[in-house]
Amino acid sequence: MSPLKQHISQILEQVQQMQAQNMDELEALRIKYMSKKGEIASLFSEFRDVAADEKKDLGMQLNELKNAAQERFDQIKEQLTAMREQQDKQDLTRTPDPIELGTRHPLSLVKEKIIDIFGRMGFTVAEGPEIEDDNHVFGLLNFAPEHPARDMQDTFFIDKQKGVQSPDDVLLRTHTSSVQTRVMLSQKPPIRVLCPGRVYRNEAISARAHCFFHQIEGLYIDRNVSFADLRQAMLYFAQEMFGHDTKIRLRPSYFPFTEPSAEMDISCNICGGVGCGFCKHTGWVEILGCGMVDPNVLEACGIDSKQYTGYAFGLGVERIANLKFRVKDLRLFSENDIRFLKQFESA
Ligand code: PHE
Repeated sequence: MSPLKQHISQILEQVQQMQAQNMDELEALRIKYMSKKGEIASLFSEFRDVAADEKKDLGMQLNELKNAAQERFDQIKEQLTAMREQQDKQDLTRTPDPIELGTRHPLSLVKEKIIDIFGRMGFTVAEGPEIEDDNHVFGLLNFAPEHPARDMQDTFFIDKQKGVQSPDDVLLRTHTSSVQTRVMLSQKPPIRVLCPGRVYRNEAISARAHCFFHQIEGLYIDRNVSFADLRQAMLYFAQEMFGHDTKIRLRPSYFPFTEPSAEMDISCNICGGVGCGFCKHTGWVEILGCGMVDPNVLEACGIDSKQYTGYAFGLGVERIANLKFRVKDLRLFSENDIRFLKQFESA
């Protein structure tokens, strides 16, 4: 095969495969192949020097190439024009489909309400790390070294030296009291903080327990803070949260970091205190732990326990959400099933 013949069929192949996304690209192809200085024109000028006996055959081939190029060019042009017409028909002034709005998570709703209520009493929010050390979670809070809460059963340790307990053991916080220790270490009284956040405990997941949940703990330290102040703050909170007829009762309890300590019940908000399945027919449901900050804790955190006293409390956000929204299965709060979450749209 003569080199010219070969060259023609090569260009023919290229021309048949021409592609263009827009008119500019198409124009570039036209210039490359079909213009006066293009590939095809230069083949025609080579053709002039071809021997007479080859002229007929090559001439036909060249004409075929020229026609094929024109055909492919017209075809692409037609497609691009049709596409553009289609686009022109779209109404660009149309408003877009509305974006579906999400809803706030029930735990966020409850958390914000609690922060709002205590905010009115002068509490501000403090936050701290979820990955903590033993000292901030237990040590400074008067937990004895052998206290069972440190046990592997309860606490997720990230870095623990085997056997010996050390203030530097790294763990996931089991309560947000750790944020309170950080505040006490870094601020001078008066202190009035709320510490919301996620906490972790090594529990099997069921309808009633989870390996993580959310707490809000509060701490108030000043001169002359008394148990009566604690009680009044708790009563105000309960009534703002569950209605003005709500009663509270404080039962003696024990926490290493408070003395005296109490557990607080509210009159059952479902039966109004007469007794129902929810409150196990007692008329009361437990909602939080509280107490006067143990002087050992104040001293460990550098606060003079002769000048200052304080109260602290801690509650589970899921627990409050359960009471408010009557969600029976705790797992629903972390599964993020849209059918569940949608129900809180107007809450
Ligand atoms: N830290 C306690 C807990 O996680 C709750 C609490 C806080 C109790 C403050 C008393 C005072 O269970």
